[in-house]
Amino acid sequence: MTTIGLIGSGYIGGTVARLAVAAGYDVVLSNSRGPESLTELVTELGPRARAGTAAEAAAAGDLVVVTIPLKAYRSVPVEPLAGKVVIDTNNYYPERDGQFAELDDNSTTSSELLQRHLPTTKVVKAFNNIFFRHLADLARPAGAPDRSALAIAGDDPAAKARVTEFLDAIGYDTVDAGPLAEGWRFQPGTSAYGRPYGSGENFWESTAAELPADRIKALVASAER
Ligand SMILES: NC(=O)c1ccc[n+]([C@@H]2O[C@H](COP(=O)([O-])OP(=O)(O)OC[C@H]3O[C@@H](n4cnc5c(N)ncnc54)[C@H](OP(=O)(O)O)[C@@H]3O)[C@@H](O)[C@H]2O)c1
Repeated sequence: MTTIGLIGSGYIGGTVARLAVAAGYDVVLSNSRGPESLTELVTELGPRARAGTAAEAAAAGDLVVVTIPLKAYRSVPVEPLAGKVVIDTNNYYPERDGQFAELDDNSTTSSELLQRHLPTTKVVKAFNNIFFRHLADLARPAGAPDRSALAIAGDDPAAKARVTEFLDAIGYDTVDAGPLAEGWRFQPGTSAYGRPYGSGENFWESTAAELPADRIKALVASAER
């Protein structure tokens, strides 16, 4: 696995791309405005990075990260992602995304919507519960005493193993929260969402705070909605 495709290259996509390049992966970035709008980020990332369309990033990636506003999930290209592993970072914010009745009544989860849209792709939920600045700051090499862990959810064990390997390479341990249907356990509104990775009164200004695997595991296990 050498190339990471990014569908969405904003706060989270850009941060994952920086961590991936630092770990020795090639990245193919994409967004909604087209590759020419990503020149600055490609230049910053150097020779391991290039930009393309979303379909090109999907086709090029050995692993692909979908990191766009949830409202746009139906625009994610289906065919080039067939059979691949996709990491879904998306969260549901009705004020940004509009109302989704099946999310409002908890009959499904946002990652299951993406999975339904990509029927032969193996979707794994990850990165959605950490603020992008904290994600950048908390990455540590394997075995570091202050390493943090990220929660994942997914229906395919082999896909989760691939994502675990990727997270390990870019600086994180992994806690498996179960199948995609359990992904709500670290979605907005839960105690595992956002705040545990920061310290300080004002979340947006907060300093990144180490969150070891046992703590995120306990938060995910005790989640309520
Ligand atoms: N910000 C965080 O700290 C954070 C943390 C965890 C999870 N998340 C979640 O992760 C997702 C991305 O968040 P973000 O903060 O990175 O958002 P962002 O900074 O607004 O970036 C969104 C990216 O998606 C691209 N995009 C939008 N529609 C697209 C489409 N149809 N096809 C391809 N690319 C498209 C945008 O491209 P253009 O700029 O060209 O439109 C932009 O590159 C959201 O669901 C968010 O809730 C965010």
